[in-house]
Amino acid sequence: MEDLEPGAAVLSLFSRDPYRKLKRRIGAHKVLDRDEDRLVYAVDASYTAPPGNHDPDLVILCESTEDVIEAVLFAREQGLPIVPRGAGTGMSAGSVPLGGGIVVVTEKMRKVFEVNANERWLHCEPGLTTEDVKQAAAKHRLLYPPDPSSYRISSIGGNVAENAGGLRCVKYGTTKDYVLGLKYVDHEGTVHGTGVLADEPTPLDLTPMIIGSEGLFGIVVEMKLALIPAPKATRTLIAHFAETAQAIATIHTILPELVPSVLEFMDASVIEAIRGHDPYPFPDGTQAALLIETDGERDVCEREAERILEVLQEAGALEIHTASDEAERERLWELRRLVSPSLSRLASGKMNEDVVVPIGRLGDLIDRVALIADQYDTRIPIYGHAGDGNLHLNGMYDADDHKAATRAHDAIVQCFKATVELGGTISGEHGIGAAKNRYMNLQFSQDEIDVLRAMKSAFDPELVFNPNKVLPHSR
Ligand code: MLT
Ligand code: ZN
Repeated sequence: MEDLEPGAAVLSLFSRDPYRKLKRRIGAHKVLDRDEDRLVYAVDASYTAPPGNHDPDLVILCESTEDVIEAVLFAREQGLPIVPRGAGTGMSAGSVPLGGGIVVVTEKMRKVFEVNANERWLHCEPGLTTEDVKQAAAKHRLLYPPDPSSYRISSIGGNVAENAGGLRCVKYGTTKDYVLGLKYVDHEGTVHGTGVLADEPTPLDLTPMIIGSEGLFGIVVEMKLALIPAPKATRTLIAHFAETAQAIATIHTILPELVPSVLEFMDASVIEAIRGHDPYPFPDGTQAALLIETDGERDVCEREAERILEVLQEAGALEIHTASDEAERERLWELRRLVSPSLSRLASGKMNEDVVVPIGRLGDLIDRVALIADQYDTRIPIYGHAGDGNLHLNGMYDADDHKAATRAHDAIVQCFKATVELGGTISGEHGIGAAKNRYMNLQFSQDEIDVLRAMKSAFDPELVFNPNKVLPHSR
C-alpha cells in the first residue's frame, strides 16, 4: 500500500469527491451521497413508481432559498434532472427520482416569517408540516383548514405541490383556496414571486398554475397562506348502516340542505380493517359508515347537527353516536385517519387511488367498483371524502403473488375508466406523478395534454424539473 502522510488519505479521498465544491459552498452535511442515504429517497409513501432502480445520484437537504438556488445551478452544471421533494408522504410517486437525478429536499426550510392575525395570513417556508401551520394559526384562534390525513408529517410545500385536500374540503375547499402568493426558484436558479408575494403587480397571477403542478415548474420556497377564524363550535358524529344505499341517500339529503364540515364514507372492507380502533364498536352487519361534522356559530352548528340526526334516523341508520367532548371527537377523526394504514390488515399490497365523480354519481361509482372487483377477483375497499365526490379506491393484493398484483392493477384501470365515464377525474388530491401519467389519456384529449406540455415548456424549457411525471410519455 502506498505510504501516505497522516491525513493525506482523507485529503485524497476528498479531492476525488465529485461533490466537494458543492459541499464547500452549502455545507457537507446538506449533501447526501452515501448509498444508504440515497436509497431512502428512492420511494415515497405510495410505493407505486414504475419498476427499476430509482436511487437518486445525490440528495440535497436545503435549509434556505439560497441552498435551493445552489442545488438548481449544480444540477444544471451536472446535466442531471431535478426532483423536488417535501416530506415524501406523497401518494403518486411524484417525488421519486425515476432512474436517478438530484433530489432537492425542502423539508428543512421551516421558517415562519410572520403570522398576521389582523389580516389573517401566515407567511412561511415549505418545510413546515401541515400541523405546524395549523398550530401557528391556532395560537391566534385562527384555522388553516386543509387537513390531509398525513397532516402530522406532510409538508406544506408538498401540500401546495399536490393541492392537498383532506376531510374538511367539503366545506372549506383544498390547499388552492388558501394560497395568496408564492415564491419559487426556476430552472435558471432565479426566484420569482407570484400573487401577493410578487415584487410588483403582474398582469397574470401565476399562483394557481404553480399550485398542484407537482414539481414540474420549479421549486416553491415561500408561501403566504390565508387563515380563517376558528369555528366556535363543532358537532361530530358517526353513523353505521346496514346498506350502502342508505349512506348514499343520506349524503344526497344532507348536501342540498346544509354544508357539513366533514362528510366521509367508509365501506364494509374499510370497517373490517379499522375494527378494534372504533371508539363506538361497529355493530355486526354494518356495511357502511358516515363520519359527519358540522361547525360554526354554536346555534347554527346545533341546528345543523339536529337536522343531520333526523336525516340519519329517517335513512334507517343502525346506530348513531355523537362525540360528547373534544377527546371523543379526536378519536373519531383518528379512526378515519387510520383507515389508509389499517388497510394493510387486509392484504400486503395496495394501490391507493383517489378518483372523483360528481356527487350524484357516488352510488353508481360504488356499484361499478363492486362489479369490477368481482370480475377481477380483487378486493377494492372504498372510503373517502364523499361530500366532495372524492373516493379512495384501494386495489388490495398479496404482494408476493404476481398474478394477484396484475389483477388488482387491471381492476383499478377499469375503475379509472368507469370514473371517467361517470363524468369524473382520475385524481382528486393525491396527484398524477409517475403512478398515473400513463392513464392521463383516459381523461384528457390529445389537445388538452398538448396544452399541459406547452405550459411545462414555458416554465421549464429544458425539461429539468421532475421528468416523466404527470404528462404521458408518448404523444
Ligand atoms: C386519506 O384520505 O386518508 C388520505 O388521502 C390518505 C390515503 O388515502 O392514503
Ligand atoms: Zn384523502
